[in-house]
Amino acid sequence: MTETVTETATEKTATETATVSFPQDRTCPYHPPTGYPSTSRGQRSVSRVRLFDGRTVWLVTGHAEARALLVDPRLSSDRENPAFPFFARRLAATTQRRVELLGLDDPEHNVQRRMLIPSFTVRRAAALRPGIQEVVDRLLDAMVAQGPPAELVEAFALPVPSMVICALLGVPYTDHEFFEAQSRKLLRGPAGSDVEAARDALSAYFRVLIERKRRDPGEGLLDELIAKQLETGAVDLEELVRLAQILLVAGHETTANMISLGTLTLLQHPDQLARMRDGGDGVPAAVEELLRFLSIADGLSRVAVEDIEVGGVTLRAGDGVLLSTAVINRDEAAYPLPDELDLGRGARNHVAFGFGIHQCLGQNLARAELEIALPALFARLPGLRLAVPAEEVPFKPGDTVQGLIELPVTW
Ligand code: HEM
Repeated sequence: MTETVTETATEKTATETATVSFPQDRTCPYHPPTGYPSTSRGQRSVSRVRLFDGRTVWLVTGHAEARALLVDPRLSSDRENPAFPFFARRLAATTQRRVELLGLDDPEHNVQRRMLIPSFTVRRAAALRPGIQEVVDRLLDAMVAQGPPAELVEAFALPVPSMVICALLGVPYTDHEFFEAQSRKLLRGPAGSDVEAARDALSAYFRVLIERKRRDPGEGLLDELIAKQLETGAVDLEELVRLAQILLVAGHETTANMISLGTLTLLQHPDQLARMRDGGDGVPAAVEELLRFLSIADGLSRVAVEDIEVGGVTLRAGDGVLLSTAVINRDEAAYPLPDELDLGRGARNHVAFGFGIHQCLGQNLARAELEIALPALFARLPGLRLAVPAEEVPFKPGDTVQGLIELPVTW
């Protein structure tokens, strides 16, 4: 890697000479790209990187710096700000930039978040556990009945969170092929027109579903939001349509990637897999460590709205700021031997779910799904192994949520 930002470089020189590009593809699906600067290798905790369009922005890789910045209201998540740093060409190419919740700042963000919080508490997630267990068992039964080999993303990793978020929202799972295809287009494009077409298709879908539910209410979160927020005028139809999209997409894509990539990672670390197989009290800590180690939502994006001093540099108002959760979670100042997977380490304070006001709303649900799905998979299929050499498992490019495209397995 070319290290262009040195301790002695002025900010201006750093801006002009940044040649490290962001994002980069991982070379190993469970390690951050080797070309990103890393504090554990003695590099700066805040440095300059170049986006696909040649623009340079800040990249935060230090754990302490990231935690300070993610709670700093001088950083905005507003995608409608012309200086917002989209690092994926397909997202930069869209004209409709508003994103509910994730793309709003307080106080507007807080109004939406408060509407949703009661459905995502630890208690709510605990109440969903028997339903999640049922989904997991049913899918594993089907895999066993079908017999080896199997493609684990399609057979297990994607349907678990898809079925769970559908049940939570009150979206019919029978429509899963449609919305999974739209999510893929939203998250992997490749073009801006794919993103816009996927958003339009999902919006049209939710408009019809919401109208149907208004006439014939059901039991999900969407029904609750219709009754308490839409019918009272607290939100309008289009806002609810966009909120439903965020919840549906965020609710299945991310967890699916954690299940598939978590499975591959455990298969590649048999000593750690043995600890996961022991199950019991150790499972929540094991899941926390996998979340840290894999950091699948890499590249949180913000724009500075005031000057901010951090990590020995000044972020100027209007500067784009990216935070690499994958590198931040490998900062040895926070985690000794950060590149080692150690399921017993009790990985606290990682930023795999973000931090601050946008910290993942679905984290309790995601933890419940992972804590049930991963041990159940290895318990039910004790002989589970890769059906192809590890180097041939296809994984996702750097400009999207990290994970596997397919995971061919046998047992
Ligand atoms: C292991 C799985 C998951 C990971 C790694 C993950 C990661 C993240 C991260 C890093 C953020 C913060 C983004 C930022 O600060 O810019 C976030 C926000 C969010 N996540 Fe998740 N997520 C996961 C599962 C879920 C699930 C199951 C849901 C269910 C609906 C969900 C819904 C959301 C929502 C709505 C936000 C925006 C919150 C806000 O802006 O207040 N996520 N997630």
